[in-house]
Amino acid sequence: MVRVLFVCLGNICRSPTAEGVFRKLVGEAGLARQIESDSAGVSDYHAGEPPDRRAMEAAKRRGIDLGHMRARAVVPGDLSRFDYLLAMDRPVLRHLSGMGRRFAKGSGGQVALFLDHAPHLELREVPDPYLGGDQGFEFVLDLIEEGAKGLLDAIRRERLG
Ligand code: 4NP
Repeated sequence: MVRVLFVCLGNICRSPTAEGVFRKLVGEAGLARQIESDSAGVSDYHAGEPPDRRAMEAAKRRGIDLGHMRARAVVPGDLSRFDYLLAMDRPVLRHLSGMGRRFAKGSGGQVALFLDHAPHLELREVPDPYLGGDQGFEFVLDLIEEGAKGLLDAIRRERLG
């Protein structure tokens, strides 16, 4: 089993969206029994809450249901439990890297910026849509769809041969 964790700040907008988009791709590829995914936030402000209503509505327009998800904070154990930890922006990447230095003793999964899996895009970070309007959520989905495809290709190459 390959385990993937998507990480943003609140775990109510970007990372649950990424989990939903990626799960759909994995299912369509017939790999649901080989690739497991989850999402978390570096903060626990929204722990226990469902995704942001705007994120759920935008995902639903693309046929993805995020309604069952509940936010949680990332914990040090995630670094060893997951093979790939994908940060939505650089502050999140720094948080995960700092956690790794303190807790994982080199045994952790691969920590990277999610959009490093979409090198054809100019952006390296998925912008936080929380304080913006609905179109921010559409843009986030567009970016995430590209990252998710690249990530699945990478996992196939690196782990599923
Ligand atoms: P996310 O968006 O990191 O994509 O889930 C945010 C959600 C909530 C907050 C910030 C970003 N907040 O400050 O409460």
